[in-house]
Amino acid sequence: MSADHASGLETQTGFRFAARTAGVRRSALREILKVTEMPEIISFAGGLPAPELFPVEELADAAQAVFRDEGAAALQYSTSEGHAPLREWVCEYLLETAGLSLAPDQVLIVSGSQQGLDLIAKVLIDPGDSVVCEDPAYLGALQAFRSYQAHVIGLPADSEGLRVDELRSLLRGAARRPKLLYLVTNFQNPTGTTLSAPRRREIAETAAEFGLPILEDDPYCSLRYEGDRMPALAASPGARDCLYLGTASKVLAPGLRVAWIAAPDRGVYERLVRAKQACDLHTASFNQRMVANYVRRPGVLAAHIARLCRIYGERRQAMLGALARELPPGSAWTHPRGGLFVWVRLPDTIDTETLLPEALRRRVAFVPGASFWTNGDVRSTLRLNFSNASPARIETGVRRLAEAIRCAHAYPSSGPEPVLEARL
Ligand SMILES: Cc1ncc(COP(=O)(O)O)c(C=O)c1O
Repeated sequence: MSADHASGLETQTGFRFAARTAGVRRSALREILKVTEMPEIISFAGGLPAPELFPVEELADAAQAVFRDEGAAALQYSTSEGHAPLREWVCEYLLETAGLSLAPDQVLIVSGSQQGLDLIAKVLIDPGDSVVCEDPAYLGALQAFRSYQAHVIGLPADSEGLRVDELRSLLRGAARRPKLLYLVTNFQNPTGTTLSAPRRREIAETAAEFGLPILEDDPYCSLRYEGDRMPALAASPGARDCLYLGTASKVLAPGLRVAWIAAPDRGVYERLVRAKQACDLHTASFNQRMVANYVRRPGVLAAHIARLCRIYGERRQAMLGALARELPPGSAWTHPRGGLFVWVRLPDTIDTETLLPEALRRRVAFVPGASFWTNGDVRSTLRLNFSNASPARIETGVRRLAEAIRCAHAYPSSGPEPVLEARL
């Protein structure tokens, strides 16, 4: 039997796939998003920022200024590390938002933090290495780690984030030290939970004690609607060997594909640069310069973030209020203080993957929770995004969701006549 056969990767042609592609599935989320693009569906599925809030005019002004003042350079190849003025600004932003003190030569501009995850996995993970994360975890990170044949270990988290007792007992018992601890510290995707200040300190100390490097992924830190900002885990006094990922996707626009890795370790930084060169040479020169121009306009970014927080904060309230009114007894959900997501646990008898077609018939979409769990075995959870619909649509959408749940309860297998034929 050929190696391809053994790994279930037979092809009809002469192509023979690399073994590392065997465990990589299409993201369930991307598949769901295709259906939910239909306008009649109220979608809580994507992690999408609201397009009507993109700063289109200001970015157009910035783009014009870049064409006018630095057009040829903006259209030329450029350095893999990234546009120097943008890296300088990232350092100022990280100091202000995360309490991280960095030099520009410790910042690598990447094409979305998703690329950052891939590059980090590429330089750190050998087949069979373990990566520890909280369970449930960001799907894109699980995909990136598994692409390099990592063994992902999900540990339980509670309302304060990853449980340190679980981390300690894993590390004490581990025959081989895991390669990385991956955490989304603010308003986690998918749960909306924030790692508390004491936990940040304890995790930093525990990881340092066991020689476990940390990857802190922090796309949502500026989208806070309640409470005070906390310094990053990587800025904790006991922290050692940290990588930190940030992005312009959630505060400006994801289509720009501008993000950054802060990597104070010289050896890691250098290897990331080489990996980036092999991947795409550099992040789009024009986009980097457009973002650099935009963020340097006095007061513009701060005003934009304040507006996002006000509007997303209202949407979050609308969703929390609607969930409290509509969901059946036995349901529970998180109360995120920022970010884009609420995480819901329905009564155990409900499988949210079976619930989804029922919900789509009622013109509302969500992401079933199973794909975020490292072993997919908690079937009654789901993720709701609240940033991409008005409060009125959120209320209608949650009402439709509650109807679908009642229906799934009453008709566990077939269900009544569909309200709208789902086009799956
Ligand atoms: C936790 C987390 N990390 C990374 C990303 C990817 O973001 P980017 O657009 O910067 O690639 C996302 C996007 O939803 C995310 O939620």
